[in-house]
Amino acid sequence: MRVVSGIQTTGRLHLGNYLGAIKQWVAMQDQVAEAGGESMYFMADLHALTDRVAPKELADNTIEMTATVLAAGLDPEKSIIWNQARVPAHSELTWLLNNVARVGWLNRMTQFKDKAGKDREGASVGLYDYPVLMAADILLYKATHVPVGEDQKQHLELTRDIATKFNSDYGVEVFPLPEPMISVAAPRIMSLRDATAKMSKSNPSDMTRVNLNDSDDEIAQKFRKAKSDAESLPDTVEGLEERPEARNLVTIYAALADIAPAEVLAQYGGQGFGQFKPALADLAVAKLGPIRDRLVRLLDDRGEVIRVLERGSERARAIAGPVLREAQDAMGLQL
Ligand code: TYM
Repeated sequence: MRVVSGIQTTGRLHLGNYLGAIKQWVAMQDQVAEAGGESMYFMADLHALTDRVAPKELADNTIEMTATVLAAGLDPEKSIIWNQARVPAHSELTWLLNNVARVGWLNRMTQFKDKAGKDREGASVGLYDYPVLMAADILLYKATHVPVGEDQKQHLELTRDIATKFNSDYGVEVFPLPEPMISVAAPRIMSLRDATAKMSKSNPSDMTRVNLNDSDDEIAQKFRKAKSDAESLPDTVEGLEERPEARNLVTIYAALADIAPAEVLAQYGGQGFGQFKPALADLAVAKLGPIRDRLVRLLDDRGEVIRVLERGSERARAIAGPVLREAQDAMGLQL
């Protein structure tokens, strides 16, 4: 079992990233080690280049995001933690896989369509090729499991298609097919202002998301001002079906408290948002406050954060090298 996942180093980590991905990563570290497997988590700084960003800002984001995942509980003794740019094999395998992936496959990627918008001709080649780099991130380590939020599912399916075509084109079994592990508790956390859009780093309004470095007051204010409706909470989960805002807030409460949404409704069913929102804000402050406090302390020692990435990159390179050579060998690139 080898678990691999990554996070793009754009902006700051928010509650959607935490509940959809990082909380799972932290929870799995011990189980994976007990099963004799390996956990590998990386900062996708090469992917961040597709969102044009100032160089200094990109470097700061990479350090801050690394510190955030450490503050959230990733342990460099239990998991390999590194940044993509320090393992050149990610880029090398991308080029090899570019010759396996089909233009028609990439044309179907919804993230590219959303991000490129109407100006497809003006989009960078990097943005278009983003999913192939992601396939390389996963296949380079022969990952068996990839814990991600639901929004990455299409990219995981593409990764499996690329692996299958590579193996069959070259008559080899180099790449195992990775299984996506979509969070059950929080597959898709929605914006606090518009429950039809996912909570995202790229939304210009900060009120749409809770960041992992928000102060207690900011967290409380964002939940107080979160969009809701005029009715009281239902007694059963079925009652949330046509109420996307209520469903999102109940999902967040349940995921933070590690209980099922039905248990949240058993407690709060019949009560209005005037009671539920302050309870949710208190819970979020209790769960996220300690992460933020650890983050602030970690950022006092950037050198230590960089050392974690250096050690992790070295370990990742040692695993990636032989796999890249296997792929090169299959393609006739080893003489
Ligand atoms: P990124 O950086 O957008 O998000 C990191 C992780 O957080 C999850 N996520 C969410 N989950 C639930 N609700 C939300 N609102 C929400 N927003 C984000 C994402 O699904 C993801 O698991 N392309 C990836 C990074 C990546 C990667 C990889 C992941 C690069 N290479 C290889 C896995 C394997 C991305 O941009 O995630």
